Amino acid sequence: MTIKGYTQCILALILVFLLSGNCKKGEKTIDAIKIEAQDVNLEEERYRPNFHFTPRANWMNDPNGMFYLNGIYHLYFQYYPNGNVWGPMHWGHATSKDLFHWSEQPIALYPDELGFIFSGSAVVDNNNSSGLGKDGIAPVVAFFTYHDMNGEKEGRMDYQSQAMAFSLDEGMTWTKYEENPVIPNPGIKDYRDPKVIWDENNDKWIMSLAAGNKIMFYSSKNLMDWNFESEFGEGVGAQGGVWECPDLFPLQVNNSGEPKWVLLVSINPGGPNGGSATQYFIGDFDGQDFVPDEDFLIQLEKEKAVWLDYGRDNYAGVTWSNIPESDGRKIGIGWMSNWDYARDVPTYTWRSAMTIPRELRLHKEEGKYCVRSRPVKEFYDFVEKEVEWRSIGLNEFNAVFDKNLNLNSTHLELALKDLKAYTYDLSFYNQQGDSLTIGLDNTQNQFYIDKTASGKVDFSEKFAPAKSVYKLNKSVDDIRIQIVLDKTSVEVFVNDGAIVFTELFFPNALLDRCSLISDHTSFNMAYVKLQELKFQN
Ligand code: FRU
Repeated sequence: MTIKGYTQCILALILVFLLSGNCKKGEKTIDAIKIEAQDVNLEEERYRPNFHFTPRANWMNDPNGMFYLNGIYHLYFQYYPNGNVWGPMHWGHATSKDLFHWSEQPIALYPDELGFIFSGSAVVDNNNSSGLGKDGIAPVVAFFTYHDMNGEKEGRMDYQSQAMAFSLDEGMTWTKYEENPVIPNPGIKDYRDPKVIWDENNDKWIMSLAAGNKIMFYSSKNLMDWNFESEFGEGVGAQGGVWECPDLFPLQVNNSGEPKWVLLVSINPGGPNGGSATQYFIGDFDGQDFVPDEDFLIQLEKEKAVWLDYGRDNYAGVTWSNIPESDGRKIGIGWMSNWDYARDVPTYTWRSAMTIPRELRLHKEEGKYCVRSRPVKEFYDFVEKEVEWRSIGLNEFNAVFDKNLNLNSTHLELALKDLKAYTYDLSFYNQQGDSLTIGLDNTQNQFYIDKTASGKVDFSEKFAPAKSVYKLNKSVDDIRIQIVLDKTSVEVFVNDGAIVFTELFFPNALLDRCSLISDHTSFNMAYVKLQELKFQN
């Protein structure tokens, strides 16, 4: 064989080798897809919650446009139907009769030449003040922000404006108002998330709008022509990020009947335990100005900001409109994630869930206002099994709980009394070594959730860098804790929802054991109730 022949032969061998390598690579790719498909199944099984709303597929963030009508709760949401990360925003839609079983409906609002469809609200225009009703049908009117991507790219300030759409079939299909935007941008960069309510004291509609680090209030008689009334927020409360998704509504103080107004304001970043979170203000509103309450301002001076939820995973929460007076509840729901890592969580076919719907109530104790949250009462309609203990010792508790338990759709209530200067750690865990701890440290005066070892945590360094903490003023003698567990989330309501923590976690296997660890071995838990819930699909 000549040198040329040798060279050709070697080249041919290299080619065959490379091709066979490619071929193997090809097979590997197929394997990889297969593995992904299995992962998808695992993800479904292990991670998709049982009773929290999730979109069937793709990306979701804020709850939007919630209203109640004729027995149906409507929930719209920021939705990107073509991918599992944030993208051109639509309004997805889901309906429910009981706030827990949701049916996903066709997409309600699509982006158009004016922009993406950002967050907003909806009201039922019962008196047809807008004139958009027809044949005696009261229109449902939605308000949203148009986000003009091109304007943003061009570096303009005025790329967000407020727009309107209406529905004559109870929220199933929508017509965008021809003369949108109803409120053009006055030159403010972050100018979004209109939340409209009917102010019955002043006989007009009020819109709260996030504008940079403040909230602007507008009023209207017909939902179309809006007058600027006032603004609130300069230098008040948490200011570590942009203010978003406001919600202003009246609420009577539970124990005295005193009429007050609550203003919810989401902020990103700047939350108490990192990333995005929701703060609130208590005050009075006369149809024009929101004036924070004197006592509340004293509270703010001490606390800097007052938070609806101290966990990392409750954001952009707002309340339902048109709840009948006979019901009278203020029901809210939040996006159960955090902008710090929402795009990175280890679910691929769908991303994000909502919190459970919660009733918000206002309390005032020792001069301090507090918005308390609790699971809506419908939650308890799904209790299938329940076991209760009174005055149960630590060993007895652990003997019952420290073994195979079904913690997948679970509500656990604990009342601890006569506590001392110790740490009380309630851990949920599995045999793979994943654990989630809800703790009271009566030596350092703090309540916390520790998910640093809860399973998959390293998909984002911001997911579980440390415990989520609530600082107590002093050590506590007794505490009541309610815990809602749903595979990949925990919602903790302390002392009737005065302190709330919502946290996501992604264990490698379902958590199925629970134990209470404390050096205070002689105390008895005053009350323990374990409820298993069942939600049919
Ligand atoms: C809050 C938010 C809103 C905005 C929407 C966009 O999470 O940033 O201010 O309207 O998300 O999807």
